[in-house]
Amino acid sequence: MSFQAKPQVLFSRQEIEATVRKLAAEVSQDYQDKCPLLIGILKGSFMFMADLIRLLDFPLEVEFISLSSYGRGKESSGKIKVVRGLRSPVRGRDVLVIEDIVDTGLTVAFLLDYLRKKRPASLKLCALTDKPSRRQVPVTIDYLGFTVPDKFLVGYGLDWDEKFRNLPDICVLEE
Ligand code: IMP
Ligand code: MG
Repeated sequence: MSFQAKPQVLFSRQEIEATVRKLAAEVSQDYQDKCPLLIGILKGSFMFMADLIRLLDFPLEVEFISLSSYGRGKESSGKIKVVRGLRSPVRGRDVLVIEDIVDTGLTVAFLLDYLRKKRPASLKLCALTDKPSRRQVPVTIDYLGFTVPDKFLVGYGLDWDEKFRNLPDICVLEE
């Protein structure tokens, strides 16, 4: 595969927009009186985070954390660590983790565990996409956009080898 591979649209920008709207309505209902701390996992969640929070019209704070899980290419190394930590305290906060895709579940399971130890008031997960066929550890997704097939996805923040994050649609990258 190369960066010349042709991505095929799986979810169009219009479908993504409608789904982000649905998620924003759910999140608003549960958090409008809570001033939540939204924590996005870099880099993949940046576009989803940007679109989601523009639809939330109540006080909230935004943080990003950088974890390493995937190396180059498509397979997870399985070893996860915090590469860039949080600047805001988590203790006593209503924390909502924002993720682009839950694949094996290792990344999110690690992060939820890491955050739970910091004693938030509440801790939930909002994921734009879920690839349940590849799960290695159980993960509860409180707010879910799309369930996706076992295909490698790019676009709307998702990358292959750092490429394709800028595509406005979620696409399948064929071999
Ligand atoms: P997990 O730890 O296997 O659940 O993988 C989570 C991370 O791997 C995600 O945050 C993505 O950055 C990346 N990832 C998993 N599947 C895909 C995919 O289909 N396309 C692009 N990145 C992916
Ligand atoms: Mg990610």
